[in-house]
Amino acid sequence: MEPPLEEAFSQMRTGRRGGLPLVSNVSDTARWVASYRAAESERPDALFHDPYAGQLAGNDGLAMTALAPRHLRSGWPLVVRTKLIDDIVATAVSQGCDCIVNLGAGFDTRPYRLRLPPSLSWVEADMPAIIDEKEALLRDATPSCSLERVRLDLANQAAREALLKDVSTSNNDVLVISEGVLVYLDDHAITALSDGLIAHSSLRWWLVDFFSPRVLALMQKGTGQAFERAPLKFAPPNGVAFFEKLGWSVTQLHSVMREATRLRRAPLLVRLAQLRPEPDPRQLGTAHWGAVVLLEHAARGAAATRGMLTP
Ligand SMILES: C[S@@+](CC[C@H](N)C(=O)[O-])C[C@H]1O[C@@H](n2cnc3c(N)ncnc32)[C@H](O)[C@@H]1O
Repeated sequence: MEPPLEEAFSQMRTGRRGGLPLVSNVSDTARWVASYRAAESERPDALFHDPYAGQLAGNDGLAMTALAPRHLRSGWPLVVRTKLIDDIVATAVSQGCDCIVNLGAGFDTRPYRLRLPPSLSWVEADMPAIIDEKEALLRDATPSCSLERVRLDLANQAAREALLKDVSTSNNDVLVISEGVLVYLDDHAITALSDGLIAHSSLRWWLVDFFSPRVLALMQKGTGQAFERAPLKFAPPNGVAFFEKLGWSVTQLHSVMREATRLRRAPLLVRLAQLRPEPDPRQLGTAHWGAVVLLEHAARGAAATRGMLTP
Protein backbone atom coordinates (compact mmCIF):
# COMPACT_ATOMS: atom_id res chain seq x y z
CA MET A 1 0.00 0.00 0.00
CA GLU A 2 1.19 3.53 -0.84
CA PRO A 3 2.33 5.71 2.10
CA PRO A 4 0.64 9.14 2.32
CA LEU A 5 2.73 11.86 0.68
CA GLU A 6 3.77 13.54 3.99
CA GLU A 7 5.10 10.21 5.18
CA ALA A 8 6.95 9.75 1.88
CA PHE A 9 8.63 13.14 2.43
CA SER A 10 9.70 12.15 5.92
CA GLN A 11 11.16 8.93 4.50
CA MET A 12 12.96 11.05 1.91
CA ARG A 13 14.73 13.01 4.62
CA THR A 14 15.80 9.99 6.64
CA GLY A 15 16.11 7.25 4.02
CA ARG A 16 14.37 5.00 6.52
CA ARG A 17 10.87 3.85 7.32
CA GLY A 18 10.01 2.63 10.80
CA GLY A 19 13.73 2.24 11.57
CA LEU A 20 14.34 0.11 8.47
CA PRO A 21 16.03 1.22 5.25
CA LEU A 22 13.59 2.55 2.66
CA VAL A 23 15.33 0.40 0.06
CA SER A 24 14.35 -2.84 1.76
CA ASN A 25 15.82 -5.09 -0.93
CA VAL A 26 17.49 -4.82 -4.31
CA SER A 27 14.16 -4.92 -6.18
CA ASP A 28 13.09 -1.67 -4.53
CA THR A 29 15.71 0.08 -6.66
CA ALA A 30 13.36 -0.55 -9.61
CA ARG A 31 10.95 1.99 -8.08
CA TRP A 32 13.78 4.45 -7.68
CA VAL A 33 14.76 4.44 -11.37
CA ALA A 34 11.12 4.43 -12.51
CA SER A 35 10.55 7.66 -10.62
CA TYR A 36 13.25 9.40 -12.68
CA ARG A 37 11.61 8.16 -15.85
CA ALA A 38 8.29 9.52 -14.63
CA ALA A 39 9.83 12.95 -14.03
CA GLU A 40 11.56 12.99 -17.42
CA SER A 41 8.32 12.02 -19.16
CA GLU A 42 6.66 15.16 -17.82
CA ARG A 43 9.20 17.54 -19.33
CA PRO A 44 8.16 19.43 -22.46
CA ASP A 45 11.46 18.37 -24.04
CA ALA A 46 11.29 14.79 -22.74
CA LEU A 47 13.83 12.37 -24.24
CA PHE A 48 11.22 9.60 -23.94
CA HIS A 49 7.70 9.12 -22.67
CA ASP A 50 6.99 6.42 -20.16
CA PRO A 51 3.29 6.71 -19.31
CA TYR A 52 3.52 3.86 -16.77
CA ALA A 53 6.55 5.02 -14.80
CA GLY A 54 4.72 7.18 -12.25
CA GLN A 55 2.31 4.45 -11.27
CA LEU A 56 5.07 1.85 -11.10
CA ALA A 57 7.38 4.07 -9.03
CA GLY A 58 4.69 5.08 -6.53
CA ASN A 59 5.43 7.35 -3.59
CA ASP A 60 8.20 5.02 -2.44
CA GLY A 61 10.04 5.67 -5.68
CA LEU A 62 9.67 9.40 -5.19
CA ALA A 63 11.06 9.15 -1.66
CA MET A 64 14.05 7.20 -2.89
CA THR A 65 15.08 9.86 -5.39
CA ALA A 66 16.10 12.01 -2.44
CA LEU A 67 18.58 9.36 -1.30
CA ALA A 68 20.94 9.97 -4.18
CA PRO A 69 23.95 12.26 -3.75
CA ARG A 70 22.91 15.87 -4.48
CA HIS A 71 24.62 16.17 -7.88
CA LEU A 72 22.84 12.98 -9.04
CA ARG A 73 19.44 13.84 -7.54
CA SER A 74 17.81 14.89 -10.80
CA GLY A 75 18.55 11.39 -12.05
CA TRP A 76 20.32 12.69 -15.16
CA PRO A 77 22.56 9.60 -15.52
CA LEU A 78 19.53 7.29 -15.42
CA VAL A 79 17.55 9.42 -17.84
CA VAL A 80 20.48 9.49 -20.26
CA ARG A 81 21.00 5.75 -19.85
CA THR A 82 17.35 5.11 -20.65
CA LYS A 83 17.53 7.19 -23.82
CA LEU A 84 20.78 5.56 -24.97
CA ILE A 85 19.36 2.09 -24.44
CA ASP A 86 16.10 3.00 -26.22
CA ASP A 87 18.21 3.97 -29.25
CA ILE A 88 20.41 0.87 -29.05
CA VAL A 89 17.32 -1.35 -28.91
CA ALA A 90 15.89 0.38 -32.00
CA THR A 91 19.16 -0.08 -33.91
CA ALA A 92 19.54 -3.73 -32.86
CA VAL A 93 15.97 -4.47 -33.96
CA SER A 94 16.56 -2.77 -37.30
CA GLN A 95 19.68 -4.93 -37.71
CA GLY A 96 17.79 -8.19 -37.27
CA CYS A 97 17.75 -8.76 -33.51
CA ASP A 98 14.95 -11.27 -33.00
CA CYS A 99 14.86 -11.46 -29.21
CA ILE A 100 15.61 -9.17 -26.30
CA VAL A 101 16.28 -10.57 -22.85
CA ASN A 102 16.13 -7.97 -20.10
CA LEU A 103 17.85 -9.34 -17.00
CA GLY A 104 16.78 -7.46 -13.87
CA ALA A 105 14.05 -5.77 -15.92
CA GLY A 106 12.46 -4.18 -12.85
CA PHE A 107 9.84 -1.64 -13.89
CA ASP A 108 11.20 -1.10 -17.39
CA THR A 109 8.32 -0.70 -19.85
CA ARG A 110 10.03 -0.72 -23.24
CA PRO A 111 7.85 -3.57 -24.58
CA TYR A 112 4.88 -1.23 -24.07
CA ARG A 113 6.26 2.20 -24.88
CA LEU A 114 8.59 1.51 -27.83
CA ARG A 115 7.38 0.81 -31.34
CA LEU A 116 8.55 -2.77 -31.90
CA PRO A 117 7.80 -5.46 -34.48
CA PRO A 118 5.00 -7.73 -33.19
CA SER A 119 7.23 -10.70 -34.12
CA LEU A 120 9.99 -9.58 -31.73
CA SER A 121 10.30 -11.82 -28.69
CA TRP A 122 10.99 -9.95 -25.43
CA VAL A 123 11.80 -11.78 -22.21
CA GLU A 124 11.93 -10.01 -18.86
CA ALA A 125 13.61 -11.71 -15.90
CA ASP A 126 13.64 -10.49 -12.32
CA MET A 127 12.92 -11.56 -8.75
CA PRO A 128 9.44 -13.08 -8.29
CA ALA A 129 7.97 -10.34 -6.07
CA ILE A 130 8.77 -7.45 -8.40
CA ILE A 131 7.44 -9.37 -11.40
CA ASP A 132 4.21 -10.16 -9.54
CA GLU A 133 3.79 -6.48 -8.70
CA LYS A 134 4.57 -5.34 -12.24
CA GLU A 135 2.14 -7.80 -13.78
CA ALA A 136 -0.62 -6.60 -11.49
CA LEU A 137 0.08 -2.92 -12.21
CA LEU A 138 0.31 -3.41 -15.99
CA ARG A 139 -2.53 -5.91 -16.33
CA ASP A 140 -4.53 -3.55 -18.59
CA ALA A 141 -1.60 -2.51 -20.79
CA THR A 142 -0.75 -4.20 -24.09
CA PRO A 143 2.84 -4.75 -25.21
CA SER A 144 3.73 -4.07 -28.84
CA CYS A 145 5.73 -7.28 -29.18
CA SER A 146 5.58 -10.79 -27.79
CA LEU A 147 6.36 -10.50 -24.06
CA GLU A 148 7.19 -13.20 -21.55
CA ARG A 149 8.26 -12.85 -17.92
CA VAL A 150 10.49 -15.17 -15.96
CA ARG A 151 10.76 -15.12 -12.18
CA LEU A 152 14.32 -15.87 -11.19
CA ASP A 153 17.22 -14.93 -8.97
CA LEU A 154 20.19 -14.28 -11.25
CA ALA A 155 22.40 -15.82 -8.56
CA ASN A 156 20.71 -19.17 -9.19
CA GLN A 157 23.01 -20.69 -11.79
CA ALA A 158 20.69 -23.53 -12.81
CA ALA A 159 17.69 -21.22 -13.32
CA ARG A 160 19.81 -18.64 -15.14
CA GLU A 161 21.33 -21.20 -17.48
CA ALA A 162 17.95 -22.79 -18.19
CA LEU A 163 16.64 -19.40 -19.30
CA LEU A 164 19.69 -18.67 -21.46
CA LYS A 165 19.56 -22.10 -23.07
CA ASP A 166 15.88 -21.67 -23.81
CA VAL A 167 16.22 -18.25 -25.51
CA SER A 168 19.42 -19.16 -27.33
CA THR A 169 17.93 -22.24 -28.94
CA SER A 170 14.80 -20.49 -30.20
CA ASN A 171 16.46 -17.29 -31.51
CA ASN A 172 19.47 -16.30 -33.64
CA ASP A 173 20.40 -12.73 -32.72
CA VAL A 174 19.61 -12.03 -29.10
CA LEU A 175 20.31 -8.76 -27.29
CA VAL A 176 20.74 -9.24 -23.55
CA ILE A 177 20.24 -6.13 -21.43
CA SER A 178 21.35 -5.78 -17.83
CA GLU A 179 20.47 -2.11 -17.24
CA GLY A 180 21.32 -0.81 -13.79
CA VAL A 181 21.83 -4.34 -12.51
CA LEU A 182 25.56 -5.15 -12.55
CA VAL A 183 26.33 -2.54 -9.88
CA TYR A 184 24.49 -4.76 -7.37
CA LEU A 185 26.56 -7.85 -8.26
CA ASP A 186 30.18 -8.61 -7.48
CA ASP A 187 32.95 -9.46 -9.94
CA HIS A 188 32.51 -13.17 -9.31
CA ALA A 189 28.76 -13.11 -10.04
CA ILE A 190 29.27 -11.01 -13.17
CA THR A 191 31.97 -13.38 -14.43
CA ALA A 192 29.62 -16.33 -13.88
CA LEU A 193 26.82 -14.49 -15.69
CA SER A 194 29.16 -13.63 -18.57
CA ASP A 195 30.36 -17.24 -18.85
CA GLY A 196 26.73 -18.33 -19.10
CA LEU A 197 26.07 -15.82 -21.88
CA ILE A 198 29.24 -16.50 -23.86
CA ALA A 199 28.41 -20.21 -23.95
CA HIS A 200 25.73 -19.39 -26.55
CA SER A 201 26.79 -17.58 -29.72
CA SER A 202 23.18 -16.67 -30.55
CA LEU A 203 23.30 -14.42 -27.47
CA ARG A 204 24.99 -11.95 -29.75
CA TRP A 205 24.97 -8.66 -27.82
CA TRP A 206 25.19 -7.78 -24.16
CA LEU A 207 24.32 -4.26 -23.12
CA VAL A 208 26.02 -3.29 -19.86
CA ASP A 209 26.47 -0.11 -17.86
CA PHE A 210 28.92 0.61 -15.10
CA PHE A 211 30.68 3.39 -13.20
CA SER A 212 34.31 4.03 -12.40
CA PRO A 213 35.53 3.15 -8.88
CA ARG A 214 35.60 6.87 -8.06
CA VAL A 215 31.92 7.33 -8.90
CA LEU A 216 31.00 4.13 -7.06
CA ALA A 217 32.71 5.46 -3.93
CA LEU A 218 30.77 8.73 -4.23
CA MET A 219 27.51 6.87 -4.65
CA GLN A 220 28.24 4.59 -1.69
CA LYS A 221 29.01 7.62 0.46
CA GLY A 222 25.99 9.57 -0.79
CA THR A 223 23.44 6.81 -0.33
CA GLY A 224 24.89 5.63 3.00
CA GLN A 225 22.79 3.31 5.15
CA ALA A 226 19.72 3.74 2.95
CA PHE A 227 21.20 1.21 0.52
CA GLU A 228 22.56 -1.20 3.13
CA ARG A 229 20.21 -3.91 1.82
CA ALA A 230 21.10 -3.26 -1.81
CA PRO A 231 24.83 -2.56 -1.57
CA LEU A 232 26.55 -1.04 -4.58
CA LYS A 233 29.48 -3.27 -5.51
CA PHE A 234 30.69 -3.35 -9.10
CA ALA A 235 33.00 -0.75 -10.62
CA PRO A 236 35.84 -2.34 -12.62
CA PRO A 237 39.08 -0.28 -12.46
CA ASN A 238 39.94 -1.74 -15.88
CA GLY A 239 36.61 -0.60 -17.38
CA VAL A 240 35.72 -2.32 -20.65
CA ALA A 241 38.80 -4.56 -20.39
CA PHE A 242 36.94 -6.43 -17.63
CA PHE A 243 34.46 -7.61 -20.28
CA GLU A 244 36.98 -8.04 -23.09
CA LYS A 245 38.86 -10.54 -20.92
CA LEU A 246 35.63 -12.52 -20.63
CA GLY A 247 35.31 -12.91 -24.42
CA TRP A 248 33.39 -9.79 -25.49
CA SER A 249 34.20 -7.12 -28.07
CA VAL A 250 33.13 -3.53 -27.59
CA THR A 251 30.95 -2.33 -30.44
CA GLN A 252 29.60 0.88 -28.90
CA LEU A 253 30.82 2.85 -25.92
CA HIS A 254 28.88 5.86 -24.68
CA SER A 255 30.30 8.01 -21.91
CA VAL A 256 27.25 8.92 -19.82
CA MET A 257 28.67 12.35 -18.92
CA ARG A 258 29.43 13.20 -22.50
CA GLU A 259 26.02 12.00 -23.67
CA ALA A 260 24.35 13.94 -20.86
CA THR A 261 25.95 17.09 -22.22
CA ARG A 262 24.86 16.29 -25.76
CA LEU A 263 21.31 15.55 -24.62
CA ARG A 264 21.18 18.68 -22.44
CA ARG A 265 20.72 16.89 -19.14
CA ALA A 266 24.16 17.48 -17.60
CA PRO A 267 24.44 19.82 -14.62
CA LEU A 268 26.96 22.67 -14.92
CA LEU A 269 29.73 20.88 -13.02
CA VAL A 270 29.43 17.88 -15.31
CA ARG A 271 29.55 20.12 -18.38
CA LEU A 272 32.68 21.78 -17.08
CA ALA A 273 34.25 18.39 -16.42
CA GLN A 274 33.89 17.71 -20.15
CA LEU A 275 36.74 20.15 -20.70
CA ARG A 276 39.04 17.42 -19.42
CA PRO A 277 39.89 14.57 -21.79
CA GLU A 278 37.96 11.35 -21.42
CA PRO A 279 39.82 8.67 -19.45
CA ASP A 280 41.22 5.55 -21.04
CA PRO A 281 38.14 3.25 -20.89
CA ARG A 282 40.43 0.36 -19.98
CA GLN A 283 42.23 2.16 -17.18
CA LEU A 284 39.86 4.41 -15.28
CA GLY A 285 42.18 5.53 -12.49
CA THR A 286 40.49 8.23 -10.42
CA ALA A 287 38.22 9.50 -13.20
CA HIS A 288 34.59 10.43 -12.60
CA TRP A 289 33.13 8.28 -15.33
CA GLY A 290 30.28 5.96 -16.25
CA ALA A 291 29.32 4.29 -19.49
CA VAL A 292 26.71 2.39 -21.42
CA VAL A 293 28.51 -0.22 -23.47
CA LEU A 294 27.24 -2.53 -26.17
CA LEU A 295 29.30 -5.71 -26.20
CA GLU A 296 29.26 -8.30 -28.93
CA HIS A 297 30.02 -11.98 -28.56
CA ALA A 298 33.61 -12.30 -29.81
CA ALA A 299 32.63 -15.18 -32.10
CA ARG A 300 30.09 -12.89 -33.80
CA GLY A 301 31.86 -9.57 -33.56
CA ALA A 302 33.42 -8.99 -36.97
CA ALA A 303 32.59 -5.28 -36.77
CA ALA A 304 33.99 -4.86 -33.33
CA THR A 305 37.58 -3.83 -32.94
CA ARG A 306 39.49 -2.42 -30.04
CA GLY A 307 39.73 0.90 -31.86
CA MET A 308 36.02 1.29 -32.52
CA LEU A 309 34.94 2.68 -29.20
CA THR A 310 32.67 5.55 -30.05
CA PRO A 311 29.30 5.27 -31.80
C1 LIG B 1 18.08 -0.44 -10.42
S1 LIG B 1 16.91 -1.68 -10.81
C2 LIG B 1 16.92 -1.56 -12.59
C3 LIG B 1 15.66 -2.08 -13.17
C4 LIG B 1 15.56 -1.95 -14.69
N1 LIG B 1 16.62 -2.67 -15.36
C5 LIG B 1 15.56 -0.49 -15.08
O1 LIG B 1 16.59 0.00 -15.56
O2 LIG B 1 14.56 0.15 -14.87
C6 LIG B 1 17.81 -3.19 -10.52
C7 LIG B 1 16.96 -4.41 -10.84
O3 LIG B 1 17.82 -5.57 -10.81
C8 LIG B 1 17.10 -6.61 -10.21
N2 LIG B 1 18.06 -7.55 -9.63
C9 LIG B 1 19.13 -7.28 -8.87
N3 LIG B 1 19.73 -8.41 -8.47
C10 LIG B 1 19.01 -9.43 -9.03
C11 LIG B 1 19.12 -10.84 -8.98
N4 LIG B 1 20.08 -11.43 -8.28
N5 LIG B 1 18.21 -11.56 -9.65
C12 LIG B 1 17.21 -10.97 -10.35
N6 LIG B 1 17.06 -9.63 -10.43
C13 LIG B 1 17.94 -8.88 -9.76
C14 LIG B 1 16.27 -5.93 -9.14
O4 LIG B 1 15.18 -6.74 -8.69
C15 LIG B 1 15.84 -4.66 -9.86
O5 LIG B 1 14.63 -4.84 -10.55
